[in-house]
Amino acid sequence: MAKGSEIGTPVERSNVSRKSTFSRKSMSSKADIVAADLFCGAGGLTRGLIDSGIRVVAGFDIDEACRYPYETNNKPAVFEKRSVSEIDGKRLKALYPSNSVQVLVGCAPCQPFSKYTQGLEKSMDEKWGLLSHFGRLVEELKPHVVSMENVPQLQRHSVYDEFLGTLRRMGYSISASEVYCPDYGIPQHRTRLVLFASLLGPIEIIPTTYGPDTYLTVEDAIRRLPRLKAGEICQSDPLHRSSRLSDINLQRIRNSKPGGTWRDWPIDLVAKCHRKKAGKTYPSVYGRMVWDKPSPTITTQFFGFGNGRFGHPEQNRAISLREGAILQSFPSNYEFVQRGRGFNFRTVGRMIGNAVPVRLGAIVGATIIRHVEEANRR
Ligand SMILES: C[S@@+](CC[C@H](N)C(=O)[O-])C[C@H]1O[C@@H](n2cnc3c(N)ncnc32)[C@H](O)[C@@H]1O
Repeated sequence: MAKGSEIGTPVERSNVSRKSTFSRKSMSSKADIVAADLFCGAGGLTRGLIDSGIRVVAGFDIDEACRYPYETNNKPAVFEKRSVSEIDGKRLKALYPSNSVQVLVGCAPCQPFSKYTQGLEKSMDEKWGLLSHFGRLVEELKPHVVSMENVPQLQRHSVYDEFLGTLRRMGYSISASEVYCPDYGIPQHRTRLVLFASLLGPIEIIPTTYGPDTYLTVEDAIRRLPRLKAGEICQSDPLHRSSRLSDINLQRIRNSKPGGTWRDWPIDLVAKCHRKKAGKTYPSVYGRMVWDKPSPTITTQFFGFGNGRFGHPEQNRAISLREGAILQSFPSNYEFVQRGRGFNFRTVGRMIGNAVPVRLGAIVGATIIRHVEEANRR
């Protein structure tokens, strides 16, 4: 079971009449389930849906850098550079073939809701409103199935209650759970809120398939990749590149143990801020990963040794961009930047860290397919 179910969620399940225009006769295959992806980024969620057998027609995002990875890896889905606040239901409706089961998915930017930014969001007011636009689009389009992914902290904010209120008013059956990614075969310690809402009847995330004894590990995911030095780019895969390290950071990583902290270093290598009393309570930076466990959460800054526990388990460097992408369960040939074009470490790191793990997207897709098949049989 997903962790959320264990702790008493699904948070909500309303028994309501089905207002769907869904036609059973027309539903002959998975291909009739068609999705559009709001806040699509580089395509983690889209790719997972496609892997599960759902057809994705379009993704919307304001970041032009996402166009290349989104379209290159997810053909024939198209990338539309447009703010979700500027789309309307008519635009979305035109994307779906008639008689398809319409699915609307989205993962609004997480920063306004994450534990790192609470209380500092004033400048992010517009981003807070983006989930309301998702709700507005549900009202305008009335898709058969909705799925939303975000950080669990979102549940503490009124914008989430408003989103639920919209779905409830419109007669959706709703379930939401906190999903621990390793439980679904993702080699990464990451917990996400995954919500489903359907006009076709009750919907529940599919059961988990992994447990603590079978979790995929950092070793399973990245040990096979070619060795690399800090600052080096792999000849055969330009995404397998790691950031440069200053002399002091090279000395620090040489003194770092897998799963350890800067407390393992000789005192002269410890940063001044960490030598102070308050700093001693922050051991979760400058760490190395451990081979035999899932990785820490891959953030948008994962390529920096000083930004978390992002050191390679045994090589003296931070993990490479490719290694981060694989820990996010992107296929190992997923392209993020066109060869020969300028390469920006931060931009690529942001797209990878921001992504919904591809495998979680596939779990979302499998859940929707099972749900539609069940509705078909009723
Ligand atoms: C958490 S990421 C989504 C990741 C994506 N679902 C994936 O799996 O790769 C949020 C995305 O929202 C995009 N974004 C931010 N503001 C937006 C807006 N007003 N309209 C559309 N997209 C926006 C960001 O550029 C970012 O790519």
